[in-house]
Amino acid sequence: EPELVPVICIDGPTASGKGTVAAVVAQKLGYHFLDSGAMYRITALAATQAGLAIGPAQEPAIAALARQLPVRFADGKVFLGNQDVTETIRTEEAGMNASRVSALPSVRLALVDLQHGFRQLPGLVADGRDMGTVIFPDAALKIFLTASARQRAERRYKQLISKGISATLGGIQQDLEARDARDMSRQAAPLKPADDAALLDNSELSIEESVAQVLKLWQGTRPF
Ligand code: DC
Repeated sequence: EPELVPVICIDGPTASGKGTVAAVVAQKLGYHFLDSGAMYRITALAATQAGLAIGPAQEPAIAALARQLPVRFADGKVFLGNQDVTETIRTEEAGMNASRVSALPSVRLALVDLQHGFRQLPGLVADGRDMGTVIFPDAALKIFLTASARQRAERRYKQLISKGISATLGGIQQDLEARDARDMSRQAAPLKPADDAALLDNSELSIEESVAQVLKLWQGTRPF
């Protein structure tokens, strides 16, 4: 029974560090890891490659693609069919396209089963925007991880620069605030904390400290 598999949800805005924190928590607990944002990023990429403009006009066609999405996660890499798209889906443009595609309700619906499929023993750590509100409402622990826009922009900036990608701090902060605004204001599963989520602001915390906080909260929930 999937209901018996414990789930930890880590939701929050862009570049809050939730991806890294969720992956480390999953690794420490020996749990599976769901990067739901990657699914929206891959859907947007598949749509673009199919020549579909990302918007409401193409919603049925993009949803059809999402229902059959040949996505595979293996050895820390992400594949779309036989294509290694690990790097391609991490650009700022891919993130913005993912945000656009994720506002289409039938695309969200098309990806539900794929996400539920990750709920397997011994447990799951799920990273996204609506893990606790929509996808796994019965999760044993829900965290809403935030940080100030400035902090998030600085982290993203350092990441890009270290990869040799040129960027400006102001430009990045503007982009991430625009993406947050879209993710929070959409009708379908908007970004917001679940009623029973614990709020964790990691503006002043390192990854290790954030991980420690999550594990502490996890120990405070019912034992499995
Ligand atoms: O977490 P991320 O940056 O990879 O997510 C990319 C976009 O996908 C994000 O801006 C909004 C969308 N998304 C979503 O709507 N729901 C999720 N559970 C995860 C991501």
